[in-house]
Amino acid sequence: MTVAPLADRLDAELAELARFHDSAFPGWSRVVFSEPYRDSRDWVRARMAEAGLDPVVDAAGNIIGRLPGADPNAPALLTGSHTDTVPQGGRFDGIVGVLGGIEVARRLTETGTRLNRDLYIVDFLGEEANEFGISCMGSRSISGTLSAEHLDRMDGSGQRLGEAMRGFGLDPSAALGQPWRRPMHGYVELHIEQGPLLERAETEIGVVTAIAGIERLLVHFAGSAGHAGTTPMGERHDALVSAAAAVLTVDRVGCAAPVHGVSTSGSIVSAPGSMNVISDEAKLWAEIRSVERDWLQGARREIVDEITAETAARGVQIDVEWLNDQDPVPTDEPVRDVIASAAAELGYSWRAVPSGAGHDAAHLARLGPMGMIFVPSVAGKSHCPEEFTASADIAKGVHTLTRTLVALDAQDRPRD
Ligand code: GLV
Ligand code: MN
Ligand code: MN
Repeated sequence: MTVAPLADRLDAELAELARFHDSAFPGWSRVVFSEPYRDSRDWVRARMAEAGLDPVVDAAGNIIGRLPGADPNAPALLTGSHTDTVPQGGRFDGIVGVLGGIEVARRLTETGTRLNRDLYIVDFLGEEANEFGISCMGSRSISGTLSAEHLDRMDGSGQRLGEAMRGFGLDPSAALGQPWRRPMHGYVELHIEQGPLLERAETEIGVVTAIAGIERLLVHFAGSAGHAGTTPMGERHDALVSAAAAVLTVDRVGCAAPVHGVSTSGSIVSAPGSMNVISDEAKLWAEIRSVERDWLQGARREIVDEITAETAARGVQIDVEWLNDQDPVPTDEPVRDVIASAAAELGYSWRAVPSGAGHDAAHLARLGPMGMIFVPSVAGKSHCPEEFTASADIAKGVHTLTRTLVALDAQDRPRD
């Protein structure tokens, strides 16, 4: 059987999947539970079926394909990623790991390479942070950390996550009780870097050292409304001004990080939202990230202390809600070594890099050894329409993933 040119096939499939997006917005919006996302899941299933992976959809909406190995009882290998996007996002984040994983299976089949272990390829449901304040829903379910509290969370319209899942044809209660039951030999995820390190260093492959921890917060500010023309400046309790001060606090804390650390205020809303009325309500959504747990804890305290002091001085009340905490997760060192050797044997340059982005891999690490392979992002851009990685560069990631999985398959335990 001839083996199809990898970059050509990737190009064609990236373009096909990109067709499923909400054309009311610039860029590519395929947000979890949206119509384009629903339609795209059938397309992904069809690709897995074509590749002979006999896909199933679990209670949490994960699409799971399986390439059977010679020994059905051997602990399995897993790879995958996600195909949902942020609003107005790109065509590569997550997608490369799903299409790349399917491509690995095809190439193993086309070259007559039979693994000893089953290889599962997973398109995890809803990896991106959503309106319910949760990310990585599918991988949390598989790793057993999706909770009833998550299902109870509401979006801006008052809908609960559990209801949204049901509306998408899923079974939220079963999604809580379906952790992966088979022993996992290893999980390796291919992803775009989403930052500038690899491109700047002219390096083809990133071997990920750790996935950043993420702390997300929602601050509610309650002040008092009043006339914008008559209320003396010194007598105001302006919720929006406090929220604006908090944005600067969040930014200052990230800028001062002596280690890997970043902070972002992603959204702010205020009410009543009129130019001539002092705001009595504001909400701010922000997050901080680092691969250093101690910095994250310190940054979290510093942000809350500063916001508390600023609002107390202004006579604004606050309520701080921590929506999500995800500890930093180191990748497995022996798996890192296998990835680095695979890249070197293929003649690719590689370097160790941290991941500032969150990934399904962080949750899969609960089930066994985990590693990640990065390919460069042009100009380090991601979560925006300009996100781009040439298919020739993605192909190097697919080759590295294939070789890594073949090498792990041959090991009795990844630590051998
Ligand atoms: C996901 O891409 C995240 O890092 O927020
Ligand atoms: Mn991603
Ligand atoms: Mn993303």
